[in-house]
Amino acid sequence: MMKILLIGSGGREHAIASTLVRSKNVQLFALPGNPGISRTAQIVALDTKKYQEISNFCLENSIDLVVIGPEQPIADGLSDALRSNGINVFAPSRSAAQLETSKLFAKQFMEKYAIPTARFRAFDKSQKQAALDYIRESNLPIVIKADGLAAGKGVIVANSFEEALKALEEMFSGSFGSAGEKIVVEEFMQGEEASIFAITDGNNFVTLAPAQDHKRILDGDKGKNTGGMGAYCPAPIVTFEVLEKVKSLIIEPTLKGMIAEGHPYIGCLYVGLMIDEGNPKVVEFNCRFGDPETQAVLSVFDGDFAELLFSAAKGELNISAIREISRGYATCVVLASEGYPDKYETGFEITGLDEISDNVIVYHAGTKEINGKIYTNGGRVLGVTAFGATLKESQKNAYNAVNNIHFQNIYYRRDIAAKGLKNNN
Ligand code: AMP
Ligand code: GLY
Repeated sequence: MMKILLIGSGGREHAIASTLVRSKNVQLFALPGNPGISRTAQIVALDTKKYQEISNFCLENSIDLVVIGPEQPIADGLSDALRSNGINVFAPSRSAAQLETSKLFAKQFMEKYAIPTARFRAFDKSQKQAALDYIRESNLPIVIKADGLAAGKGVIVANSFEEALKALEEMFSGSFGSAGEKIVVEEFMQGEEASIFAITDGNNFVTLAPAQDHKRILDGDKGKNTGGMGAYCPAPIVTFEVLEKVKSLIIEPTLKGMIAEGHPYIGCLYVGLMIDEGNPKVVEFNCRFGDPETQAVLSVFDGDFAELLFSAAKGELNISAIREISRGYATCVVLASEGYPDKYETGFEITGLDEISDNVIVYHAGTKEINGKIYTNGGRVLGVTAFGATLKESQKNAYNAVNNIHFQNIYYRRDIAAKGLKNNN
């Protein structure tokens, strides 16, 4: 019996939980979990910020593996705290997580190890004039990023000098807290985005099904940036040749470089790519699985996921734990509360969750359960994820399932996976 503690409460963690319990002989605990996760895991009632208590729980309950879903506890040092108590952790150390938590660290690292990415310059608060001069001399659009974690809001793609100036003022004025004390100004990259997850023990790695996220709120990739409105995989834009380039030009030098820097990277390395005419460049690294890509990627994963993560955490990646990276295709449509990513109401009952067919999994993200009924409890509420033998079929199955689910103020995009179908033609 493998005892696993999963940290997190979103749709990504529900997908991780469902995939872990598909492995034989797994007993799953979750902190804090959500109503969907509670169907497969025992919820642990501990304060997610009290790392010593979490360590004690693991030691007292002989937990074999801790899997950390979100970036914040990794950035706050939870992996290090657990490892110092001899506990196996699938997540990078706080210093390895700088690939996500500091844009500047990531850019300087990529420059040093010649990993393809957008050209950039870094500035701190005292260099505002130099930053302005640099922006004035650059081509538009230009991209301005706060150095630190800013919950997806720290990146501005400016189409005019005025917009760039506004972004700069905002970041240096402290509206992103310490995240905005340093900024990175970088060249705008043309192309189409894709996300690739590498599962790694520090030395060896395996990539899961390449996915595409849909970050904007409106159809056709218009409107505000969100945490992600849907995803699908495998993404046809990541051809065999593109994937080989990503492995040899990006993932391999990144893992070697992190060892050379003294921060070996163990866990899931999320590589956010811009692909232009078959050439991948890094948009960003994340130190964890992506949300909602994971909901699609793990739905097509065939193998012993618990063994895969456990072996990576121990430094002995067991690739034979995978039978197939992708069994067919999956599309995940996020059902959100109208108004998200700004103001929205919650507390509406969700119906239709019991009328879901075999080829669909509904992952919970922002829900709560009261007396056996499920209610909306967040901006992104559910991730309706369907399989199919083809991408088109998985898309059709997902939207058919969406039609059965009801709650007041429901909002979702109607074009999830359309980009992939266009590339398939
Ligand atoms: P990031 O948080 O770095 O992933 O940036 C958020 C989003 O901004 C990305 O998903 C891209 O859509 C866009 N973006 C960031 N950097 C660039 C760039 N250099 N060129 C074009 N788009 C970018
Ligand atoms: N889907 C984007 C992210 O997880 O950061």
